[in-house]
Amino acid sequence: MRFPENFIQEVAERADIEELVGRYVTLKKAGGNLLGLCPFHSEKTPSFTVTPSKNMFYCFGCHAGGSAITFVQKAENLEFADAVELLANRLGLPIPREASASVRREDEVSRKRVLEMNLEAAKYFRACLFDPDIGGPGMAYLKGERGLSDATIKHFGLGYAPEGFGMLNYMRSKGFRDEELQVAFLCGKSQKTGGAYPYFRNRVIFPIIDSIGNVVAFGGRVLDDSKPKYLNTSDTPAFRKSNHLFALNYAKNCCAERMILCEGYMDVIALHAAGFEYAVATLGTAITPNHARIFSKYTKRVIISYDSDEAGQNAANKAMRILGEVGMDVRVLKLSGAKDPDEFIRKFGNERFRRVLDESKTGFEYKLETILSRHDLTVGSEKIRATGEICEVIAGYSSNVERAVYQSVASERLGLGEDVLKNSVERIRNKMRADAKAQESRAAQATLKNFGDRINPDAAKDPRAATAEESVLGLLLIFGEYRNEVLFGKVALASEDFITEFHRKVFDHIMALEASEGGFRFELLGEFFSPDEMGRIRRMEVIRRDLTQNGPEVFRSSVASLLAVKQEKEVRSGDLASHLEYIRRKSKIHKGKVDPT
Ligand code: CTP
Ligand code: MN
Repeated sequence: MRFPENFIQEVAERADIEELVGRYVTLKKAGGNLLGLCPFHSEKTPSFTVTPSKNMFYCFGCHAGGSAITFVQKAENLEFADAVELLANRLGLPIPREASASVRREDEVSRKRVLEMNLEAAKYFRACLFDPDIGGPGMAYLKGERGLSDATIKHFGLGYAPEGFGMLNYMRSKGFRDEELQVAFLCGKSQKTGGAYPYFRNRVIFPIIDSIGNVVAFGGRVLDDSKPKYLNTSDTPAFRKSNHLFALNYAKNCCAERMILCEGYMDVIALHAAGFEYAVATLGTAITPNHARIFSKYTKRVIISYDSDEAGQNAANKAMRILGEVGMDVRVLKLSGAKDPDEFIRKFGNERFRRVLDESKTGFEYKLETILSRHDLTVGSEKIRATGEICEVIAGYSSNVERAVYQSVASERLGLGEDVLKNSVERIRNKMRADAKAQESRAAQATLKNFGDRINPDAAKDPRAATAEESVLGLLLIFGEYRNEVLFGKVALASEDFITEFHRKVFDHIMALEASEGGFRFELLGEFFSPDEMGRIRRMEVIRRDLTQNGPEVFRSSVASLLAVKQEKEVRSGDLASHLEYIRRKSKIHKGKVDPT
């Protein structure tokens, strides 16, 4: 599908990048720009910039960058056209008719279409649950076995998927095609016949609702002990599991102070019903850095309340690390006497849970207790091992104050002098620093050689040419008058002058757009380049931003040095030819055929 260029332009211009990015990142003013933690890589100090005057963004850490459209593509994992459509819908701009669904490729199912299907399916599942002839088993399970009230069931929009093909027939009657239902993961595809069959059958249904109220996916639980316990929607054009948290649509309204992170849907539902409406859960997956960034957008403190078995506690350790990496205040709950928060509340009540919550331990306290409980300190070798593990933990904190405090706490618990611990911690830190340095220099060398430059692999063969080309392209991206000079031949620069293929392609598209009716606009490049490539293109521009004063000279000299690199290359290959000629002549001399003079 292609949108007319003026439409893309309008979408990119009207999109409010500050508001858009603000949905994912907390931004602070920094000069004419806005600054925040990059949503596309893990970082503690902000290197992600938004330039509202240009409606563009750029991360100095991971080099992600581009227009508002590129941002949506990256944040929501969308194709260019789908990102344009999403933004247009948000802005209330009508989609140009020639580009709308009717002329799409048959197999292309949009995010919007998937959301429509999900909403319809959610209504169907809910109606089934509340239908006395159909929903009996589901109701009996949710109310009888899990103790949920009608109000809670309605609040979460829970449903029931009966056996059989009723769901498929219903969805067909609403105008959805089998292939679309398969893309949305609402139907599977029979291996034998290729036909569609409802994916969720004889399960209670938990709709997953995003923070703005779309039904993006479903989880379906069996009513007994059969396997698999849960079926979940896989990735669809409207859903990636690492982008969502269960119950965030409710939690986001009361989570500024703290959020509770649980493992299961049922835990979250039980907590909300008990008044802890700031509980959420990941969707059948371990927590990812992307989840951590979602948390950091909504709250200051996350209290991890995972299952009390060993698997749950290991997962909690990992979650602590990932949440700590984005600078969250992380606490951990240890529930005794129950396997998970759901069971705890049922057994001991809300008040007791609230007390445990208020006593939640900081990450360090929790780790210290866990290590101590695993070792018998009266046995020398065990005590040494425990001390080593605790020092490792302390060494992981970058703040001197934190380390000093924890060393003193640990020294008391272990009955060892603080200086002993301090020495050991410093030794570990020195090793960590050396390792980090070695890794950094490896990484630096790799970049130097342009290894792993998947965007412009040719740059490795000819780094000087690549640099000269970047300079020229950066200036062409910024200044319309230079594009004009090239277009009208006032500066002799052509596609063939570019040695690396990626840069040549960038040049070609810049000039083609410049020559087109509407002229060049940065965001229009998004149709021809991937979001990663757009980041690279944006980098060429950002780096040359400060050259505005001596623009014309800089441009001409950049073009000149680009041409010089190219010429030199040609001469060098000429040299080789004459060198070969020389060798040939020499060998003839030896054979005595040619007179040496
Ligand atoms: N999960 C999953 N697939 C499974 C098992 C679990 O996707 N086969 C995910 C679900 O998101 C589930 C979470 O992992 O909510 C936690 O698993 P578990 O503690 O086993 O499930 P609960 O939701 O707590 O279910 P219950 O209390 O009914 O056992
Ligand atoms: Mn459970």
